[in-house]
Amino acid sequence: TPAAEKPPLEVLLCSPRGFCAGVVRAVDTVERALALYGPPVYVRHEIVHNRYVVESLKAKGAVFVEELDEIPDTDAPVVFSAHGVPKAVPEAAAKRNFFALDATCPLVSKVHREAEIHHKRGREIVLIGHAGHPEVEGTMGQLPPGAMTLVETVADVERLTPRDPSKLAYVTQTTLSIDDCTQIIAALTRRFPEIVAPHKEDICYATTNRQEAVKSVAPRVDALIVVGAPNSSNSKRLQEVAERAGCPHAQLVQRAGEIDWTKLAGIRRLGLTAGASAPEVIVEEIIDAFAERYAVTVEAVSGATESMFFPLPRQLRELDKAAD
Ligand code: F3S
Repeated sequence: TPAAEKPPLEVLLCSPRGFCAGVVRAVDTVERALALYGPPVYVRHEIVHNRYVVESLKAKGAVFVEELDEIPDTDAPVVFSAHGVPKAVPEAAAKRNFFALDATCPLVSKVHREAEIHHKRGREIVLIGHAGHPEVEGTMGQLPPGAMTLVETVADVERLTPRDPSKLAYVTQTTLSIDDCTQIIAALTRRFPEIVAPHKEDICYATTNRQEAVKSVAPRVDALIVVGAPNSSNSKRLQEVAERAGCPHAQLVQRAGEIDWTKLAGIRRLGLTAGASAPEVIVEEIIDAFAERYAVTVEAVSGATESMFFPLPRQLRELDKAAD
């Protein structure tokens, strides 16, 4: 379409969006391991929930598996994903003498340690999270079966039957909807006033900031696109947050090719953001796709500034030092 005939579209670009410090560290861990040791580098589970990232690493020689028993005996590095792993995984890796590199986000490891401390103090633990998500499996797997109970909803809280309501604590998944989580915590503290809360909440800074940015943009736009994978918890939450904050239609897409244009007919203002595991190149790809159909102007809407940085796993840092 010639530019003159294109309808105008204002794109409100949410900030912060996209990669968080934990994802940067996890992706860098695999890349650094590939650079230092050469392929193959084994990775248990998608390093982060993004197909584009996974495919790019595969092309460089990373081999993705779901479980360690899919890996032959090897001295190649074996990386654990950003979501964290049950204790049984590093134990099994040690038994097989794997060179394990743990890319668990430090903010997830922090939740693991909180859970361990509660357990040591004799507290039964309630985990607020989504069943089946690898982070939940990893966190539950820090403790013996029965030590932790998963709740996903306020209704789950009503059904809880703790052994001793005066010896309870809760921890949460890092990528929850802030608003849903607040309601579940309210239900927990209503039923169990003595329940011990985390010192600082477990939902991470990146989740919080990306949801806040979407909340401020959502009421101003006709539709909003979240770049992210359907199995990415924080990306799915961004889509929900947008719709709840008054945006008539929010779409979760992995690539520009997935955009459902039929749902976008007649829009004049579009919100755009990306989940914590979605790379910026795809945000650009989406803007280009809109620019083919609309006369696009982009306005950046800035929220919190982020300066979080996590150093690489210790083994890779020590190698750096040795090389200096
Ligand atoms: Fe870590 Fe939060 Fe990212 S827990 S991996 S910083 S979304």
